[in-house]
Order: sequence, then structure tokens, then C-alpha cells
Amino acid sequence: MAERAAIVTGASSGIGLAVARMLGEEGFGITMAARRPEKLEGAVAGLAADGFDVQAVAANVADEAEIQKVVAAHRERYGRLDVLVNNAGIGVGATVGEIDTKRLDMQLDINLRSIVLFYRESLEMLKAAAAEHKNALVVNTSSISGKRAEGWLSVYSATKHGVVGWTEAMNKELGPSGIKSTALCPAFVDTPMTDFVKEHVAAEEMIRPEDIAESVRYLLKTSPACVVPEIMFLRPGDAL
Ligand SMILES: NC(=O)c1ccc[n+]([C@@H]2O[C@H](COP(=O)([O-])OP(=O)(O)OC[C@H]3O[C@@H](n4cnc5c(N)ncnc54)[C@H](OP(=O)(O)O)[C@@H]3O)[C@@H](O)[C@H]2O)c1
Repeated sequence: MAERAAIVTGASSGIGLAVARMLGEEGFGITMAARRPEKLEGAVAGLAADGFDVQAVAANVADEAEIQKVVAAHRERYGRLDVLVNNAGIGVGATVGEIDTKRLDMQLDINLRSIVLFYRESLEMLKAAAAEHKNALVVNTSSISGKRAEGWLSVYSATKHGVVGWTEAMNKELGPSGIKSTALCPAFVDTPMTDFVKEHVAAEEMIRPEDIAESVRYLLKTSPACVVPEIMFLRPGDAL
């Protein structure tokens, strides 16, 4: 049984998959959650084939009961939670007059509400880990749009600003008990999410998912005295 355990949401591709692999390398047992079961099973099989201790839990994080299912399955398999990575997210562009209510709600639910619910549902296990080693970690994937909003991506930007604010609040509320939170705020990363823009910005000119994973590896190594509230990732020439 792994001595440390983690949950990663949105773990079936892109940033979440790279972070899950890094956590495997660091010896964590990992519950990998994402929406589409087949894609998730493929990702989990890849890590398991490399010898990592992983389980797949397919879940739509827009649904409260499915979040509870992920946390319960994790507790059942590993019995502890040292690192929670709230990474699942979607972005749907629209001008304000064209915002579709269903897509508005989806972005709010997946990008922001799910993070709130994952903290609540995981709190007991995070507190137990913090009581043991004072270094429980929650990583929330925001975006550079969570620092500087974009028109057309206004709803996405608002949810990602919400993630930064929520992370700040959690550091005030839970930091003293040894649960540290960090918001990741990247510009374009080469993942399926940015396929729509690759005609204009080449994949090679984007940040790599592994770059983000390395920043989480660094967070694992910081002392209990060190909180990193957010990390921004720009590309050369990106203006803030
Ligand atoms: N790529 C970028 O340039 C960039 C920049 C800044 C921030 N981000 C953020 O990074 C995070 C990861 O995105 P990515 O770039 O790695 O894209 P990605 O490869 O498309 O990954 C998104 C992940 O989230 C999962 N997901 C989506 N909706 C879900 C739902 N309702 N329930 C459970 N899982 C769901 C996806 O699973 P399914 O495929 O099964 O839906 C997939 O595993 C997102 O929060 C995104 O906003 C990305």
C-alpha cells in the first residue's frame, strides 16, 4: 500500500494526466477521475503498465453525488489523502449576448463548484494527513485567464478568477491546520483543450503539460512553513 495518496480530477489527458504520472513517480497511490470512462481507462492503463498504483473512477464532477463517489472510492482503496488536484475544467467561448445558459452552468459547475465540493468532501482525510505531517496539499488548476480576463472567454475567465479567490480563502481558513492550497495559472498549454487554436499558435510554442507537473513536484517538496498561493506560467512575449 502506498504511503501517500492523491486524487487527480481531469486526469485522462493533458495537464491532469501529466500531474498523475509525476505523482506516480513520487510514489503516490492515485485515484484518477474524469468524465469519459473509455478515455480514462486508457490513461490509467498506461500508468498502471509503467508500474504505478492507480485506480480509475469515471465521474462527471458537475454532479455532487459523483464527486462523493470519487472521494468514497479513494477512501476505500487508499484510506488517506495527502494531495488533492482539482484540475477538471472546460472552456466555452461566447460573446455576452450569445451566452447559452446550459454552457454557463456547465462552466460554473465544473470549473468552480466542483472544487468547493471536493474540498468539503475530502476535508476529513486532508485534515488527518495534515495532522500527521503538516503538509497536505491541494492544487487547483485556474488559468492565466484567472488573473487577466479575456473577452469572449468571459465566463471561463470568471470561473478561473473564482478559483484563485477560493484558493486564497482556503489558505486563510485551512493553512494554519497544515492544508496548503496553490492555484496554477497557465497560459496556452499543449493539450486537447487548445486544439482549437493550434492553427494560429503552434503546439511547440505552447507550455508543455510536463512543465506544469514539474511545478506540482516542486510544491510536494516545500516545507510546512512555505505556502505558494499561485503559480503563473507565461510564454515568451506573453503580456500580462
Ligand atoms: N490547455 C490550456 O491552455 C490551459 C490553460 C490554462 C488552464 N487550463 C486548465 O487546465 C485544466 C486541464 O485542462 P487541459 O488543458 O489538460 O485539457 P484536457 O486535456 O481537455 O483535459 C481536461 C480534463 O478534464 C476532464 N473533464 C472535463 N469535463 C469534466 C467533467 N464534467 N467531469 C469530470 N472530468 C471532466 C476531461 O475528461 P473528458 O475528456 O472525459 O471530458 C479531461 O480529463 C482545465 O481546468 C483547464 O481549464 C488549461
